[in-house]
Amino acid sequence: MLNFEFKNPTKIHFGKGQLSQLPNEIPAGVRLLMVYGVSSIKQNGIYEQVKSHLKEYHLFEFGGIHANPEYEVLLQALDIIRKEKINFILAVGGGSVIDGAKFLAAAAKYEGDNLWDMLTYRIRVEHGIPFGTVLTMPATGSEMNSGAVINRAATQEKLPMGHGPALFPQFSIMDPEFIASIPVRQIANGITDAFTHVLEQYMTYPTGALLQDRFCESILQTLIEIAPRIIENPADYNTAANYMWCCTMALNGLIQKGVPADWAVHSMGHELTAMYGIDHARTLAVIMPSHYRYNIHSKQEKLAQYAARVWNITAGSIREKAYAAIDRTEAFFHSLNIATHLSAYTPDFEGAAQQISRRFIERGWYGLGERKTLTPADVEKIVEMSY
Ligand code: NZQ
Ligand code: ZN
Repeated sequence: MLNFEFKNPTKIHFGKGQLSQLPNEIPAGVRLLMVYGVSSIKQNGIYEQVKSHLKEYHLFEFGGIHANPEYEVLLQALDIIRKEKINFILAVGGGSVIDGAKFLAAAAKYEGDNLWDMLTYRIRVEHGIPFGTVLTMPATGSEMNSGAVINRAATQEKLPMGHGPALFPQFSIMDPEFIASIPVRQIANGITDAFTHVLEQYMTYPTGALLQDRFCESILQTLIEIAPRIIENPADYNTAANYMWCCTMALNGLIQKGVPADWAVHSMGHELTAMYGIDHARTLAVIMPSHYRYNIHSKQEKLAQYAARVWNITAGSIREKAYAAIDRTEAFFHSLNIATHLSAYTPDFEGAAQQISRRFIERGWYGLGERKTLTPADVEKIVEMSY
């Protein structure tokens, strides 16, 4: 097992009726900005419910943070933060709204000249406005981690921020009843994203981290078990609760401690969202199978372990089990109606591989993956295999 440090300061209020904790968590007297997405919380009633707990606050609002939070839109919210001297942010939404709030929290205290440098140079965020979240869409784990990914349409970039203590929410409220209104397409995305988060931290090479492996396998098995039920009926409370907690546990830092992590699938996937606007989770389903097939030699031991423990594939050599596990994972994504080839999402896929590889060279991303050995030339081949 590798050395590690672990601190996760986010307080979780999980379960029915937990919105009532809002006044206990948001300090009295703050100038509060509530940020949210395009329309869902106004349609499903969450907007009114949240506001009913915020009557005592000096409240400002900013709606319209759409999927893959856009830099230009967030700059408008930043104007309000500066003008109104906001000192607490409440994000009500999914990963996009929460990531947007993280950007705003950091941007408000950033002292450099160019805000986008925070992303270009992945500057660690030490200081920010405190913020909390009300999660309406399980998928990313953003409600309990210090990650955020921001899109910039003008330059066709989608880049992660540099983590740091100020990017952890102070608290997150997670009520599984809030997911009843999520469309099937987004539920399938959430399952695929959470599943891939676990794979990115598991599908590397063995390090003797027995407990971390079992954590990962149990999250994967639970997602597989509940996937058909949550797709069928997101209003089923117990299934929704299990689904929600799986998504959080997949990316709140715990399973990544003491083990190597890959994250190359996400790095390539973000480019596909930036270039074609494909949903985040679907980009992962496109890249993951080719990434694992291309890197079969370095990942086959963990793939074979995953084959046996998660999919009950026990026959054949290590290499055969590894390939069978990739096939089985693809079939799982297909069962969620998630296509695993780029050509299913866009007719303009030719040239994507070269473009992504070129961008990685421009940014100096010469070594991806758990061993930092994947070059832009490898990236080009992997993306090409995913057409
Ligand atoms: O905008 P509204 O109208 O609210 O609609 C949203 C949005 O269209 C809708 N939605 C959310 N809650 C709902 C609902 N619809 C009905 N009922 C509800 N209760 O769902 C749509 C998608 O929401 P979004 O927040 O974009 O989804 P998700 O949570 O999957 O977030 C995706 C973003 O997070 C980033 C992705 O790259 C992407 O930008 N990620 C963030 C990570 C992190 N912070 O750690 C890690 C991930 O790997 C990921 O990169
Ligand atoms: Zn993801």
